[in-house]
Amino acid sequence: MSSRIPGFYKLSVEERLKRVAEFAGLDEDDIKAVISHGLPLDVADRMIENVIGTFELPLGIATNFLIDGKDYLIPMAIEEPSVVAAASNAARMARESGGFVTDYTGSMMIGQVQVTKLADPFAAKFEVLRHMDEIIEKANECDPMLVSLGGGCRDVEARVIDTIVGKMLIVHLLVDVRDAMGANAVNTMCEKVAPFIERITGGKVYLRIISNLAAYRLARAKAVFDKDVIGGEEVVEGIMLAYAFAAADPYRCATHNKGIMNGISALMIATGNDFRAVEAGAHSYASMGGYKPLTTYEVDSKGNLVGTIEVPMAVGVIGGATKVNPVAKVSLKILGVKTAEELARVAAALGLAQNFAALRALATEGIQRGHMELHARNLAIMAGAAGEEVDRVVEIMVKDGKIRLDYAKEVLERIRSG
Ligand code: MEV
Repeated sequence: MSSRIPGFYKLSVEERLKRVAEFAGLDEDDIKAVISHGLPLDVADRMIENVIGTFELPLGIATNFLIDGKDYLIPMAIEEPSVVAAASNAARMARESGGFVTDYTGSMMIGQVQVTKLADPFAAKFEVLRHMDEIIEKANECDPMLVSLGGGCRDVEARVIDTIVGKMLIVHLLVDVRDAMGANAVNTMCEKVAPFIERITGGKVYLRIISNLAAYRLARAKAVFDKDVIGGEEVVEGIMLAYAFAAADPYRCATHNKGIMNGISALMIATGNDFRAVEAGAHSYASMGGYKPLTTYEVDSKGNLVGTIEVPMAVGVIGGATKVNPVAKVSLKILGVKTAEELARVAAALGLAQNFAALRALATEGIQRGHMELHARNLAIMAGAAGEEVDRVVEIMVKDGKIRLDYAKEVLERIRSG
């Protein structure tokens, strides 16, 4: 089934859910989970401490995504207007030239073990590397399940770093966490190998924890945006200038990357993933070698815009809230992804789409019109408009630049009296 659903935004909430249910094969229970305010209190009470309730966000669906030749409807949990519409719009344009192509480096996470109080840190590094096989073996002993699934600790790195209190040895465990986000597996392994590392180095271990700079777990996406589809040469030039601005200026770059994360984090929240981990990974990766955009843009020989993204993607489809929160489970079903790899690829494509849409809007009419249109829609409905009337009231309010409830009522009366 195609994810290209023209006029999806004009449907009622019920009709939209029906279309999504058809697309994703949702059953009655799935539908109930989405509309019955999702997370049951007793489940919430087992997830964190001191629970007094639950907190909700709108769950929207980004349409039109064609990623590696497969159609996706992408669930997004977010409070900000225009984000879902912008992603859908960008995906519609990318689709015209084949959609998104993606890549993934594999699910390798880094665990850090901090070794201190070393008289001879380079000798300690030597000992760690010399005992690498034993460290890997000990790490893997604590997660036979992960090993049986083809994952586990694969490699060990050791670096001596200079700090304000002198040199330290930082040992990295490189762990293939397969379909999990990986924090639990990695942290357990780090704690497990720490006494052995103390023994062979003679040092004192303090921190044993995952690194959110998931530099070995990258998702990439690419899309070609046909110049005629996106509005012509001037739009291409405007987007190139916007990109150049971000690449040269960290103040702009922060906002550029924030726009990317509007999409990615909304998907992370919808699927019950640790969005703070993904945010931390994205911004720290962007700052390696000076803070830079996570996307790139170029103009190809035909004058079309080519966008790419490369971003760490520590996501999971097992464990954590992904399997506990009923709405997150349905979100994964809507997406139709079965592996962390596929979720990471979709997230990268979504981030690129979101960034392209923001730059295109910023380089042309600005982003306020979209916001205003949504606001106008809400006012039109509050004024009593229904069906086709809503679009007509919105159109007139936006054209006249008067987005107010009293004007919505006035326009509606005018339309009704012919
Ligand atoms: C707003 O949430 C996101 C943007 O500011 C992103 C950008 O400026 O590129 C529109």
